[in-house]
Amino acid sequence: MSSLNGGIAVITGAASGFGLEASRIAASRGMRVVMADVQQEALDQAAGELAAQGAMVQPFRLDVSKAAEVEGLVAITLQRFGVPNFVFNNAGVGAGGLIWEHTQKDWEWVVGVNLMGVAHGVRLFTPLMLQAAKADPNWRGHIVNTASMAGLLNAPNMGVYNVTKHAVVSLSETLYQDLALVTEQVHAHVLCPYFVPTGIHQSHRNRPAEMKDGAKPTKSQLIAQAMTGQAVTRGKLTATDVAQFVFEAMDENRFYVFSHPKSLSGVQVRLEDIMSLRNPTDPFAAKPEIAEQLRAALRSAD
Ligand SMILES: NC(=O)c1ccc[n+]([C@@H]2O[C@H](COP(=O)([O-])OP(=O)(O)OC[C@H]3O[C@@H](n4cnc5c(N)ncnc54)[C@H](O)[C@@H]3O)[C@@H](O)[C@H]2O)c1
Repeated sequence: MSSLNGGIAVITGAASGFGLEASRIAASRGMRVVMADVQQEALDQAAGELAAQGAMVQPFRLDVSKAAEVEGLVAITLQRFGVPNFVFNNAGVGAGGLIWEHTQKDWEWVVGVNLMGVAHGVRLFTPLMLQAAKADPNWRGHIVNTASMAGLLNAPNMGVYNVTKHAVVSLSETLYQDLALVTEQVHAHVLCPYFVPTGIHQSHRNRPAEMKDGAKPTKSQLIAQAMTGQAVTRGKLTATDVAQFVFEAMDENRFYVFSHPKSLSGVQVRLEDIMSLRNPTDPFAAKPEIAEQLRAALRSAD
């Protein structure tokens, strides 16, 4: 039997978007699910919905950027259910704009959630999973980290978001290589979605008071927010589709999980740029109107 039928799942960012849909699929496969999120109300509602359908769920409120709170997540998971077979380090926030316009707090917040949140999850859960694997040759585990196509491309005006997602791809590929040195029972995966309708373009709803600095959003940040909002809400795939892709990839032991494989042509161009020492091509080169719109908006009088 697959460890993903009737096993244990820990999912961060579980109150919305991909995390919520993955929680629903996990529950439908008979998994016991720890649903973790920073938004208490949305979390209670999501966990309540699954529990009402008979799922074994444990909601846990945390900020993934805080090591001690992720340690709390580990403790409650072990206490309630045991070592997880599926760890989905998925919580994330979006923030765009010209790279030099982010404040110190912007960097701390986005790097804290998108990168350190994943790092804490990997650091704290992997040793437990390796121990469980050693104790039982039939035990299987999967760690899935959510990056983005922004982790493989560097579209303009996406600021610190690009930086953190590239770091998550690197962390995940390194995890894959390192796990392969020590086990065949625990697998790593990286999820790289393109634009999909979720709450990601309203990430400021999750920004804690101590990460706010009172700075007014700059023009480039307002433009980034409007353009990302448009791109996300116009996405044709659903968060359910993406969560389904995650489970398919785990079932097939496939590392890379893409929502829009066609967008990989941009990655090929980027790698060709590097290989031929060519200056970076605009990732939106196939849609020149996007760059044009950005340039015009940024250069227009305030
Ligand atoms: N939707 C897209 O187009 C898209 C594309 C590429 C990558 N992603 C990534 O997918 C992941 C999931 O996002 P989504 O699109 O489902 O958005 P979403 O906003 O619907 O869900 C993200 C969840 O993470 C939670 N969260 C935010 N900060 C947190 C923190 N500090 N601690 C714990 N939980 C926190 C939020 O409360 C929210 O419930 C993110 O890492 C995001 O960067 C999304």
